Amino acid sequence: MHVRILGSAAGGGLPQWNCGCSNCRAARDGSPYVRPRTQSSVAISAEGKWWFLLNVSADVRQQLFVNQQLGPAPGNMRGTSIAGCVLTDAEIDHTSGLLQLREGCVFSILSTPLVRRWLNDYFPIGPIVSAFSDRPWLELPLEASLELTLPDGTPAGLEITAFETGRDVPRFVPEDPRKAVGSVVGLRIRDTATGGTLVYAPGVPAIDSQLEHAVDGADLLLLDGSFWSDEEPRQMGITDRTSQAMGHVPVDGSHGSLEWLAKLPVPKRVYVHMNNTNPMLDESGPEHARVQESGVQVGMDGDEFIV
Ligand code: MLT
Ligand code: MN
Ligand code: ZN
Repeated sequence: MHVRILGSAAGGGLPQWNCGCSNCRAARDGSPYVRPRTQSSVAISAEGKWWFLLNVSADVRQQLFVNQQLGPAPGNMRGTSIAGCVLTDAEIDHTSGLLQLREGCVFSILSTPLVRRWLNDYFPIGPIVSAFSDRPWLELPLEASLELTLPDGTPAGLEITAFETGRDVPRFVPEDPRKAVGSVVGLRIRDTATGGTLVYAPGVPAIDSQLEHAVDGADLLLLDGSFWSDEEPRQMGITDRTSQAMGHVPVDGSHGSLEWLAKLPVPKRVYVHMNNTNPMLDESGPEHARVQESGVQVGMDGDEFIV
């Protein structure tokens, strides 16, 4: 399976349009140590021809421009190599790119029933895109495997299982997070020919037994690296909520993800969905060095893995 990081930053990207943090300033100034990043999305393919997007960021147009293998096949007037899009939640950074992909070309969209309802009731991407073209919306069940299919109905060679990582509601959803079953999921995806397995979990409030189970035997883990510390969002003055209250386990600390990842027997462990304020995005800083010394990679747009 080919796994390509299209965008490694969390919502807002790096630099974020209205942000004056040191990372955003350095990225704007062209620093070689703080490289610009687009918003959270990954592309996967069994054979390198047909691709599935895992989340569709607002930057998808730019991401498809720099990853031309996802564009129309040569000689086609209109076409795409995108066979489907899988959504892990209903957040704007992970879903609004579907509006950019509204024109022509049939591909499927997969999400939990709850995410589908929210994208109908509160952020009506579902009805809007279906007014432009045929978008079969398929159910992504929890804890049950499903074989992804190509537009002609044949198997894509990828088997996907969604698991709950937490319960969280986007800011535009006026519903009780405790009842939000399927609001935020991780994906375990296995190449049916090679057995190569990816776990993609860009929204993880805490390392729990479901995640431990999902990563068992995986070859590659792409994990939520939103914030370095739990207090970072408050210290930076961007919100009054902690990282965990926002649904993101911090990297550092005794219950942080880095300590867990450092000992995890998954061959490739990579952070994605990193907020622009995260100090580990500065490649000249001590936090970046600590991540690398732990055997973990700070993911970058364009990184490709074969599993
Ligand atoms: C998140 O990852 O917590 C959300 O995307 C936040 C947001 O974009 O508002
Ligand atoms: Mn996000
Ligand atoms: Zn910033």
